[in-house]
Amino acid sequence: MNNKLFALIFLSGIIFFNTIMAQDRNEQYRPEFHFSPKSNWMNDPNGMVYFNGKYHLFFQHNPNSSKWGPMHWGHAISKDLVSWEEQKIALAPDSLGAIFSGSAVVDKNNSAGFGENALVAIFTHHNSAIEKEGTGLHQYQSIAYSNDEGKTWTKYKGNPVLPNPGIEDFRDPKVMWHEPSQQWVMTLATKQTITFYGSTNLKSWNKLSEFGEGYGAHGGVWECPDLISFDHDGEKFWVLLVSINPGGPSGGSATQYFVGHFDGKTFKPLENKTKWVDYGADNYAGVTWSNTGNKRLFIGWMNNWNYANIIPTQNWRGAATVARELQLQKIDGEFFLSSNPVPEFEKLVSPLATFSNHKLKGQLDLSKNIQKTDGVFKLELVLKETRDFSIVLANEAGNELLVGYDKKSDNYYIDRTKSGKVNFEPGFAARHSGPRIAKTREISLTLLVDAGSVELFADDGLTVMTDLFFSEKKMNKLYIRSVSGITITQLKYSDVQKK
Ligand code: FRU
Repeated sequence: MNNKLFALIFLSGIIFFNTIMAQDRNEQYRPEFHFSPKSNWMNDPNGMVYFNGKYHLFFQHNPNSSKWGPMHWGHAISKDLVSWEEQKIALAPDSLGAIFSGSAVVDKNNSAGFGENALVAIFTHHNSAIEKEGTGLHQYQSIAYSNDEGKTWTKYKGNPVLPNPGIEDFRDPKVMWHEPSQQWVMTLATKQTITFYGSTNLKSWNKLSEFGEGYGAHGGVWECPDLISFDHDGEKFWVLLVSINPGGPSGGSATQYFVGHFDGKTFKPLENKTKWVDYGADNYAGVTWSNTGNKRLFIGWMNNWNYANIIPTQNWRGAATVARELQLQKIDGEFFLSSNPVPEFEKLVSPLATFSNHKLKGQLDLSKNIQKTDGVFKLELVLKETRDFSIVLANEAGNELLVGYDKKSDNYYIDRTKSGKVNFEPGFAARHSGPRIAKTREISLTLLVDAGSVELFADDGLTVMTDLFFSEKKMNKLYIRSVSGITITQLKYSDVQKK
């Protein structure tokens, strides 16, 4: 056999093996109850829209590799935001460029002329040939439409609809219908500011205003914004979500938000304070579904650009957070955004153990429970007082992941320093913390643990932390520890299973 033939057979063997592996849902770290693509790379959630009883989730996807590359929009559908069915690819690169992040709307009144109730996707074309020329003109906004509930898409012949005005980072359009001013409003990331554009037909856009200079965190480029409204005690408030990379509170990527007013032209924040949607390291580029009435339903990419391309998974890389409902809460006269898993999440949950009024000093061993659920679970705790405690996930390999509360600093934390494989990136082994925002004496929290992730929702979602971890073996030991002593008013341990 000549060398070339041998190499060819050898390579096909590898490809065949990889294809089989890609379909194996028992892969190490493959999430049980989070969306992840069957194979290959995913980053940001895109084009989320609710239509005819279905939630559409598109996502940044490289179908040819488990590393970031020419971006497509992958597609998944769910009827309940918890079980997802992956579909065929929705948008692929074309002569204008690769398909970067963006949004989708239902064009009820046929404002764009693609048909009544057409789904219209608004996205960034990223042209790497132009990028190489160094003019900074390589990103511009384009649209595509679907008349069959997102199965097939036609790109608009007049693309791009918003050419680049000379701004290097010019991307991630999030579009919504603004009823009072009777126009579509596009919220766009423009370097380290947000620029708002208006349109009546989704095809021609005019600049409304720009926000951000001197406001919030500026440790990195601003990306994937979203402008959403909330009614609070009869008054309307607008919240602007802005992802930033790097410069997040736990290093690298994170999403900040501003609470304020929007009059159809200008966004005015109530204050100049930096607040984060999630204080963990692994919730990025999250935005909300369109066409969901008064509900603000959010999903993020459960990863961080610091290491997204080298996390130790093989045939797939990247997952989404659980879908979360956002709310605006007023604590001592100040507004904060809270996130909690959507109520539909309860469909996956079966309680295994509950108890109440337990005084704990030292350690409570819940290992029997975690063994029954193969390391995947939901834990709900109500504690009588704010005192130091930690929830400890561990295994025989000596891996340990801690989630807890530190009274002295009044912070929640996740410590993944010794959680297993941590050396693939220098910053991964770290202890992350998020401030306690609630003022109550009692602590209540929900912890969701999947094969390689932990999501903490403390005090009705006022402090949220999401972190990835890669233990060498499944975590099969679980303890709650408190040296100073705590009273567990209520504990509920549940299995979480994809139905
Ligand atoms: C955010 C981001 C977006 C961009 C996309 C490219 O994670 O950098 O700004 O559109 O990813 O995949």
